[in-house]
Amino acid sequence: MTRKGGAQRIVVAGGAGYIGSHVCVELLQGGKSLLVIDDFSNSSPEALKRVREISGADIELLRADLADPAQEGAVIERVAKFRPDGAVHLAGLKAVGESVAEPMRYYRVNLGATLTLVKALDAAGARLVVFSSSATVYGERNANPVPETGALGPTNPYGRTKLFIEEMLRDLQRADERWKICNLRYFNPVGAHASGRLGEDPAGVPNNLFPYIAQVAVGRRATLAVFGNDYPTRDGTGVRDFIHVEDLARGHGAALDHLAGEKKGLALDVNLGTGRGYSVLEAVAAFKRASNRDIPYEIAPRREGDVAEIFADASLARALFGWRAEKSLDDMCADHWRWQRDNPDGYGRLKPQS
Ligand code: WQD
Repeated sequence: MTRKGGAQRIVVAGGAGYIGSHVCVELLQGGKSLLVIDDFSNSSPEALKRVREISGADIELLRADLADPAQEGAVIERVAKFRPDGAVHLAGLKAVGESVAEPMRYYRVNLGATLTLVKALDAAGARLVVFSSSATVYGERNANPVPETGALGPTNPYGRTKLFIEEMLRDLQRADERWKICNLRYFNPVGAHASGRLGEDPAGVPNNLFPYIAQVAVGRRATLAVFGNDYPTRDGTGVRDFIHVEDLARGHGAALDHLAGEKKGLALDVNLGTGRGYSVLEAVAAFKRASNRDIPYEIAPRREGDVAEIFADASLARALFGWRAEKSLDDMCADHWRWQRDNPDGYGRLKPQS
């Protein structure tokens, strides 16, 4: 639950997505009023319907592509009419491989959406943004756990859009000190809403570990390929800081309340992680326990661009916001499995109108 604070009316850009939908539930349960802006290019109106069901609250919705210059006027008008106190910005493309193949689309969409959102917030006098950034902004040579002062250096265009947007927001804050900015650097969000009604619904073959494991467990795919077992880690497989998406969502409420409580403008970079790492094989074993299903896997070559091990120094979020991750790897697996089992086709191929 978030505290009652000075930021009660929030624009959630990308609010229908995997993380955005969980953020919406968290903010609604904290008593906030929301305007979601989403173009449903990689999300479903069904997710928002379920957010309304879970929270028992209504949400305003603007179906718009923030990166389309032709829609900028409508966005500015609607945001002004909503009278927001600030925004959570999760609108963007997020597939690493796709970003390597189509870098200009990633720069246009991710940076363009940010420019329009900032313009609309400025026009509405709501100079407060919590941005959905990523641990992918860190370079490959940092010692673990990685603090926010770690060296930056993403290795693909997707990661660079996250870093460039962080930099844009920092420049904005330097130019106009009224802005309050918090770049939240997510580690590896996994799991699903404990109700089993919200979760990740990747289009096509999943790029990320948990959705892939879940689709193997449910019988939709035959075998998990484990990318490398010769890393210098406990069991040779990659180690990541998996964080439950509900803990992550709570971090957004905490960040919003923290920014709202600050007297002056500021720009913060804050890790959201658990502070501990699990290996790919540990995640597979935990998912197997949670689902009671077999998860066949085979060892495959390393995936290009992967680091052996990364986990967060999560102490800053605790010091600033009083936030820390509470859910275990077993919780992540149990909730992810419940979602996958109850929604084997995600939100369904037929995207209902909303
Ligand atoms: C985790 C571990 C893989 C799939 C990525 C992005 C990052 C962020 C989150 C998203 C690694 C291994 C994976 C598979 C495997 N952005 N793996 N078989 O790479 O840490 O982070 O997602 O929006 O920017 O880079 O997460 O889940 O892809 O991989 O063995 O089929 O699982 O090698 O060690 P990653 P991941």
